[in-house]
Amino acid sequence: MKVIANWKMNLPTPDIRSWTENFYSNVNLDDSKTIGVAPPFTHISNCVTYLQNLRVGAQNISSRDLGNNTGEISASIAKDSGASFVILGHSEVRENLDEQSSLINKKIAIAIEKNLSPVVCFGESRESYENGITKDFVCSQLKECFEGIKAETIIIAYEPIWSIGTGITPETNEINEIHNTIKDYCKNHLKFVPESVLYGGSVTDKNCKNLITGENIDGFLVGGASLDGNSFARIVNNCF
Ligand code: 13P
Repeated sequence: MKVIANWKMNLPTPDIRSWTENFYSNVNLDDSKTIGVAPPFTHISNCVTYLQNLRVGAQNISSRDLGNNTGEISASIAKDSGASFVILGHSEVRENLDEQSSLINKKIAIAIEKNLSPVVCFGESRESYENGITKDFVCSQLKECFEGIKAETIIIAYEPIWSIGTGITPETNEINEIHNTIKDYCKNHLKFVPESVLYGGSVTDKNCKNLITGENIDGFLVGGASLDGNSFARIVNNCF
């Protein structure tokens, strides 16, 4: 079971102290729980210092290794600053930076090469959901992004775009079914078994108890509700 906080472009440094205090005074942690936090790049090393027993990750990396790539962060640099995983293919990056599957594919490859565990995001638009083509859409994203990848420790996050930040989620059984499709597709067509398939999109301390009852739902990638240490601690507590 894994729960990962994606802080996106939030939480300026002074708030990290209060997040940490709120989180640790409320959370019940033990060895069976793998909890991660992906802060903005500039806070990674600070988080490694403050967040005991949590894994710290990056929200993106360059598709290239070290070199003249102004404004980019390589897998090696992210790892040097203390990241142990990286979120790739988030729909906000796909949209804001016009990131295509071929680029995500290169990023997954370099993350694996540099021992940074990839957490790769997939998900459909509202239109695709309403047209009933979610499974086909997600499988074609999987095919493009994992082309030629030999993977052992891949985490997949299913994040329907229409659920991110909207307070609306699919039903637990719908998510469970998509996760089942993702696991089948990876096993039968891509020849790897994902380490976990997480769900992301408007997860809160209220709805996570119900969502986690889906047998194929292995954990969560949490945006807005992870920005408050109390609320993220309640999600962690309610999921195990
Ligand atoms: P919200 O939890 O704010 O909907 O964001 C989900 C997400 O994008 C996590 O990566």
